[in-house]
Amino acid sequence: MRAIDLFAGAGGFTEGATQAGVHVVWAANHWALAVEAHALNHPATEHACQDLRQADWTALPHASVGVQRRIAKGRRNCGARFLTQHVTGHPGVPLCESIRTITTKDQWALVDGDRYRPLTVRETARAMGFRDSYRWPERATRRDRITGYGNAVAPPVATALVARVAEQIERSAA
Ligand SMILES: C[S@@+](CC[C@H](N)C(=O)[O-])C[C@H]1O[C@@H](n2cnc3c(N)ncnc32)[C@H](O)[C@@H]1O
Repeated sequence: MRAIDLFAGAGGFTEGATQAGVHVVWAANHWALAVEAHALNHPATEHACQDLRQADWTALPHASVGVQRRIAKGRRNCGARFLTQHVTGHPGVPLCESIRTITTKDQWALVDGDRYRPLTVRETARAMGFRDSYRWPERATRRDRITGYGNAVAPPVATALVARVAEQIERSAA
C-alpha cells in the first residue's frame, strides 16, 4: 500500500506508516531542514520542499512560573524522580508513566532528587517513540531537533492508525 505525507515535518507519521508496512511515496513540507531529515531516514520517498498553503500555526504561548513551586508540587505527586515542564504549571509525571506529546518548545525536564536538567534530544525523541537510529543533518541544532520531534505524530500512534486503515482498505477491496 502507498501513501503520501502532507505536512510531513521530520517524519513521525511516515515513520509510523512505514512500520505499519505502508510505503510513503511522497512527502512535503516547507521547512527545508525537516525535509532533509525526513529524506535521510526515508530515502525511497520523493520529497517536496514547498508551501502547502495552509493556515499559519500560531506560536505556543510562553509563560514563566516558579520552578521551585513546580518541583515541590511534583515531589508531592510523584516522589523524588519525575518529569516536568519548564514553563507550565505541570503537576509532574512519574518516570513509569507516559507523558503526553512533547511540544515544539524545549520544555521537558527531569527532576532527580535535588537535580534538575532538561531532557536530552535523545530522551525527547524516545518520549515521542522515535527509534534511536533516527537521524538529523549534522547542522540541525538542539532547537531544530526538538521542534521537529515536538511537531511529530508519535510513530507508534501512526503505526496503529495506518495499520487499521490499511486493514479496512484491504478488506473492502477483497
Ligand atoms: C505538526 S507538524 C507535522 C509533523 C509530521 N506529520 C510528523 O509526523 O512528523 C506540521 C508541519 O507542517 C509544516 N507546515 C506548516 N505550514 C506549511 C505549509 N503552508 N506548507 C508546507 N508545510 C507546512 C511545518 O513545517 C511542520 O513541520
